[in-house]
Amino acid sequence: MTPILPPFPTTRMRRLRRTSALRDLAQEYRLSVKDLIWPIFITDVPGADVEVSSMPGVFRRTLDGAIAAAEEAASLGIPALCLFPFTDPSVKTVACQEAWNPDNITNRVIRAIKERVPEIAIMTDIALDPYNANGHDGLVRDGIILNDETVECLVKMAIAQADAGADILGPSDMMDGRIGAMRTALEAQGHGQVSILSYSAKYASGFYSPFRDAVGASGALKGDKKTYQMDPGNSEEALRLVARDLHEGADMVMVKPGMPYLDICRRVKDAFGVPTYAYQVSGEYAMAMAAVQNGWLDHEKVMLESLMAFRRSGCDGVLTYFAPAAARALAAG
Ligand code: PBG
Repeated sequence: MTPILPPFPTTRMRRLRRTSALRDLAQEYRLSVKDLIWPIFITDVPGADVEVSSMPGVFRRTLDGAIAAAEEAASLGIPALCLFPFTDPSVKTVACQEAWNPDNITNRVIRAIKERVPEIAIMTDIALDPYNANGHDGLVRDGIILNDETVECLVKMAIAQADAGADILGPSDMMDGRIGAMRTALEAQGHGQVSILSYSAKYASGFYSPFRDAVGASGALKGDKKTYQMDPGNSEEALRLVARDLHEGADMVMVKPGMPYLDICRRVKDAFGVPTYAYQVSGEYAMAMAAVQNGWLDHEKVMLESLMAFRRSGCDGVLTYFAPAAARALAAG
């Protein structure tokens, strides 16, 4: 589709780059605060909000801190928050029953935000790792991550979150059959309006380590997640996973991590044309911030450029720890 251009000097590509106004007119993709989902870490552990050491500027928040984040998001125009719980080791069990406790930290924060800042959409995380003595996203027996038994737990978790008022459920567990099971249960229990953003193409990645520290899962996790998360060498499989999740009832799909997998974002958008999101994960944030703190990269430039890359790759939006800083930078123009 690239047009054949008349030769120089008839064609001078720099004509449309000459001024800021002309560059604005010629810009193909735009980044808006409305494209951002802000992931935050929440905790029951009392006391002041604590910074995650490998994620400068990112805090574990108590319930009050979470409400403050919702108010900040609302004032900045960020449409959605995504909640990730840090749980004390004492509540982690092999059966993971805290995951579907209606009064666990996630469900209490959902209720509190829905009461105080109802205009903010709340996305949740569905996976057992924050509650699992084994640190995995699924139940573990004899060293094997169980699929079907885990899906039953995830459905209970989904219903508890929907009951609490979640708008978007985010299954990040990568078990087979979970989207269909959740959709059926949601419809049966009066939650037909609750949407699912499936982590469809989630890779077994080295870029999640700061997150595992943030939610306190690093210590418990033995081994890796390769029997359920994707091989970084696969691309066709991502399309099969997205097709499957859409077929089972996902409203939106996600590619994760983000920047190393922009090719997957583009393929998914081109193949399906559905609402497509990327997760700019903790390791991507940590890399950028480490370089920024060394004075090697410019914070605002690399932040906005990395977020624009998702839009250019076909994503409708991005989960990013940069959300509030990006919102401020975009507002300042
Ligand atoms: C686990 C989960 C992970 C992330 C979101 N949900 C980590 C993992 O799969 O081990 C990673 C997010 C990030 O790195 O920012 N259910």
